[in-house]
Amino acid sequence: VISFFQPKPLAGQHVLITAGPTFEAIDPVRGVTNHSSGKMGFAVARAAAEAGAEVTLVAGPVAQATPRGVCRIDVQSAQQMLAATLQASERATVFIAAAAVADWRPAEFHDHKIKKAVDGQPPTLQFVENPDILATVAQGERARSGQLYCVGFAAESHDLLAHATAKRQRKGIPLLVANIGPTAFGRDDNELLLVDAHGFQALERAPKLVLARKLVAEIARRLKTKE
Ligand code: CTP
Ligand code: CA
Repeated sequence: VISFFQPKPLAGQHVLITAGPTFEAIDPVRGVTNHSSGKMGFAVARAAAEAGAEVTLVAGPVAQATPRGVCRIDVQSAQQMLAATLQASERATVFIAAAAVADWRPAEFHDHKIKKAVDGQPPTLQFVENPDILATVAQGERARSGQLYCVGFAAESHDLLAHATAKRQRKGIPLLVANIGPTAFGRDDNELLLVDAHGFQALERAPKLVLARKLVAEIARRLKTKE
């Protein structure tokens, strides 16, 4: 349905979003990943486009349809996601980090498939920490000069508010969105806690698209009031 009267609170904004998991290769046939479905990030991308923004979506490996009007860049690893995100962030005015970036990647990539040893000894894998995409963008020139508004997501298993508050400060971002509940991965609905410098606000359990639209409205309000 074409609605001429639909409000466009993000008109003129360029919203950059990361979504989905990352895949950290061990060898040509194996890797380390997680259960992120990408649903929330894709819903946010759709909601931002509906709100009139130009939207760039950097997506890890997910089975999701690209929302209408959204420019999608597919990546696999956290390092690829960082590179694509940094490049797109040069033009963005809002950055929303919804991806479940793998915290670690195998220290080395084996060019050939690792074969089973004759003695039955399993391989030992070393890991290194991945770059923090959100923190990197938030520490960048555009974010620090107020040209790029950064929003993070957090999945916590316990002490949600305390962890979310600490995470927002650690990442140096104005707004952090925490998933309430055991796990939101793969579900169609979610329950969110918005944490900013003033306090927190809960968005009650609803389909992810409904929550994404509310989140986008909250971001638009903060851009307007420069909160
Ligand atoms: N994030 C990111 N790059 C990473 C790790 C996280 O951009 N390498 C972003 C996520 O997209 C999310 C936010 O940082 O917006 C918080 O991610 P989370 O996994 O909750 O926090 P971490 O800093 O990784 O800490 P931990 O997993 O130990 O709680
Ligand atoms: Ca993490």
